[in-house]
Amino acid sequence: MPVPLPGRAALPALAARVRVTGGSPVRDILAVTARPEVINFAGGLPAPELFDREGVADAFRYALQETPAQALQYATTEGEPVLREQLAARTTARGLPTGADDLLVTTGSQQALSLLATALVDPGDTVLVEAPCYLAALQAFGLAGARIVAVPCDEDGPDPQALAELVVRERPKLFYTVPAFQNPTGRTLSAGRRAALASVAARHGLWIVEDDPYGELRYEGERVDWIAAHPDARDRTVLLGSFSKVMAPGLRLGWLRAPAELRRACAVAKQAADLHTPTVNQLAAARYLTACDLDAHVARVAAVYRERRDALLAGLADALPQGSVWTRPEGGMFVWARLPEAYDTTALLPQVLAQDVAYVPGAPFYAGEPDRATLRLCFVTQTPPEIEEGLRRLGRGLGVLG
Ligand SMILES: Cc1ncc(COP(=O)(O)O)c(C=O)c1O
Repeated sequence: MPVPLPGRAALPALAARVRVTGGSPVRDILAVTARPEVINFAGGLPAPELFDREGVADAFRYALQETPAQALQYATTEGEPVLREQLAARTTARGLPTGADDLLVTTGSQQALSLLATALVDPGDTVLVEAPCYLAALQAFGLAGARIVAVPCDEDGPDPQALAELVVRERPKLFYTVPAFQNPTGRTLSAGRRAALASVAARHGLWIVEDDPYGELRYEGERVDWIAAHPDARDRTVLLGSFSKVMAPGLRLGWLRAPAELRRACAVAKQAADLHTPTVNQLAAARYLTACDLDAHVARVAAVYRERRDALLAGLADALPQGSVWTRPEGGMFVWARLPEAYDTTALLPQVLAQDVAYVPGAPFYAGEPDRATLRLCFVTQTPPEIEEGLRRLGRGLGVLG
């Protein structure tokens, strides 16, 4: 806090929760990498040239011209019925029977995380997460005063036996997971792993928060059913969805599907947070879903992202030090790499940035003991030639290439 001027008393301190929960290191890196010459593998930014500008502009035009009184007015906290109907139909078509009333529209799925933290977590409560974990989920739970404990993970994701032991020992409120093309690892949980996690939740009493913003961006392999669709977990899983990665993140449109009591608690938290998600954005998205074919758009985007993933995977062996390993995601936006033990990716970042290329060091993604040799690379924002050049720079920055 600044020192007060003479004669003026010091102001009360900020709340403890904001003093202990820092800002996002990814956002800090994005600020450093804003220079146009930087090839940025750090951000998690969808490729802007692939946004359906025409389709989205037409949808906004329609919402504003045909339904201006509604589009520009306050709306219900739960969300526009016309959008919720369509979201429910899409969720049902993917194997999870859902009605419009099962859903709460949120201002991005990030808000869903904050609402759930408010609705479920008292200060000091334990929240279980994956190791490593989506950074801003650590922030949302941290701001609610949660004690965040990492569940040991292997290559296939969280270990169900370890989860069961932690649930018995720590009595957590919830377990947070990103089961498809996880941020940051790109890893996807198998059907068997999902069933085992659902069974732990059923046997031991646990909420599962299943965050799925990337599931539609699949480049190969078969879709795996949601944990929320598993009979053991239906009454105790909150499923989060988002248009950020398939339509546009600037719309700030997400949703949560939760059992009634928890959904109502989230709606109360949302009233206090922002009353409702912007009406015009909701109506435009609903119009988009009627007038355009979102699945066809996603297929076009996925075809391009697949090429970019392949370009990154093809060049990594030459760019990373010998002995490095990395994931091979079947979809999504991220590859996760581990360099040999002696490397510290946080300490190395300045010399990599000096080569005009950026990654996110792995350490901040860990709730517990960090693996400092890890890093995250986002492959969707650059074209294959830019990715190849970025990898050459990365190799130079890491001292692999001369
Ligand atoms: C796993 C995960 N959850 C939630 C979000 C937040 O997305 P939204 O734009 O829907 O708020 C992100 C964004 O990167 C994410 O990676």
